Amino acid sequence: MITAIYPGSFDPVTLGHLDIITRSAAMFDKVIIGVLNNTSKTPLFSLEERVNMLKDAVSDLDNVSVESFNGLLVDFVKQKKSNIIIRGLRALTDFDLEMQMAQGNRVVAPDVDTVFLSTSVQYSYLSSSVVKEYARYGVDLKEFVPECVISQLIDKIK
Ligand code: PNS
Repeated sequence: MITAIYPGSFDPVTLGHLDIITRSAAMFDKVIIGVLNNTSKTPLFSLEERVNMLKDAVSDLDNVSVESFNGLLVDFVKQKKSNIIIRGLRALTDFDLEMQMAQGNRVVAPDVDTVFLSTSVQYSYLSSSVVKEYARYGVDLKEFVPECVISQLIDKIK
């Protein structure tokens, strides 16, 4: 039984995240999405809102669940009896930071590995920040976020 953890801020979840989640769910027995309760960033959506939007978005995936976590990612990974972190790589610009995080995590927890999935080409430009920017300017959001996120994003931006 192999459990993998897909961590992030998910402010909000995008179709790019969902692409990584769906592909991970086909690779591992169980995928737990870990939503960071980050006290140093001020997210647009509350922790509860981010968790609920994700739960909605993955409701058709039987082996995927959503939880929040505080503190170090590797502690959450171990607490969930996992040793695999999943991260999506969009472009070279992601590489530096992702490599630094993966290597740092391995120093702190040598038995935890990071598996990188390359983002599908159609989502290579997509990020939660870009989506929030589009929402502010009234762009149709259906190409960017799951259906259940659209109205909440529009309400929030208002
Ligand atoms: O969606 P994001 O904001 O790119 O996700 C970043 C995340 C949550 C994976 C990263 O910030 C994280 O793991 N934070 C938890 C604190 C931690 O473990 N820090 C050490 C590794 S950077």
